[in-house]
Amino acid sequence: MRKKMAVQQKGAGNRKPKNFIWTRKDLLGIRELTPEEILCILDLAATHKRRWFLKDRAGVAHFSEKAAALLFYEPSTRTRLSFALAAQRLGAKVIQLAQGESSMQKGESLEDTVRILDALGVDWIILRTSDRGVLAPLAPQVRASLVNGGDGIGEHPTQALLDLMTIAEQGKPWGKLRVTLIGDILHSRVARSLVAGLKSLGVQVTLCGPRAFLTPEVVEELRVPAVSDIQQGLREADVIYVLRVQRERHSGTRYPSASQYAREYGLTEARIQRWARPGAVILHPGPVHRGVELDSPVVEGPHSAIWRQVENGLYVRMAVLSLLAGVPRTLRRASGTSRAPRGRQRAGKKLYNRRESRPT
Ligand code: CP
Repeated sequence: MRKKMAVQQKGAGNRKPKNFIWTRKDLLGIRELTPEEILCILDLAATHKRRWFLKDRAGVAHFSEKAAALLFYEPSTRTRLSFALAAQRLGAKVIQLAQGESSMQKGESLEDTVRILDALGVDWIILRTSDRGVLAPLAPQVRASLVNGGDGIGEHPTQALLDLMTIAEQGKPWGKLRVTLIGDILHSRVARSLVAGLKSLGVQVTLCGPRAFLTPEVVEELRVPAVSDIQQGLREADVIYVLRVQRERHSGTRYPSASQYAREYGLTEARIQRWARPGAVILHPGPVHRGVELDSPVVEGPHSAIWRQVENGLYVRMAVLSLLAGVPRTLRRASGTSRAPRGRQRAGKKLYNRRESRPT
């Protein structure tokens, strides 16, 4: 088991930060993170994974006094359940509120809902919403850590982090990796977060898809090369990242039918064998439309790391919750930036270390 884990973690510590101090209260997006912050999360996630496999619970933070609130105003399976499980594995309590059962039904605003949770003393608020950009103005208003669980077509930072962890486990240095994202780039918060994370770590990124999903605006926004030819997209890629076709966000888009999309961009075993590199890894954030973006044999085949992505989501979310909780409440400002004041960072580090070494 030890040997297997050592192989799985190879590369996860690429440019591992030395003496790095975590000071950020909130996780709103990948774009705001430095490479050191990204690597710090990946490193702690790998540690959580290794400890879980080795049944080594002694060094894991234990937050029995803390509570996480999950506000999911869009459907979710992976993100919601893995955040809940991550909080529970850290010893914290979890409360959940769906939009349809909250007082938002009676006209209460999202801002007031978040402030109510803060007043109740919740430590983390994980929010999924269809509205891009709503978290940034909320974060300075609360002492709780606000975590973006996906905001419309904006960002999905913990998805990108678990993707980066899965890619790192291949063991190739970031600077030598080539990643192609295929599919519905236009409507994808996952693409926005992942491209930002990959670029930050020096990875070569290419976008691939039909022109309806690769508009000049989105290519300009992401600032990486884009191709429409799938053979060209697959040929050089070490990692093939397949995106879900997001039909629920397609009002007004010139979208090809699902069958046309499958014909032109769907990945079959034959296409993988013909056009992809032998060692290429296939990722997908889920949910997968089998037979549209990916055929079932590809999902279950030797190139796929899709189930490992789901597994890594748990450890990434444990890492994120632990790091955010390590910034003491005394350093959390009720207004201003989502980072603790610079002069007080050392105290945050000490508290974080103390919690990490507290036996469960
Ligand atoms: N990838 C992802 O966000 O999946 P869920 O919508 O199931 O959480």
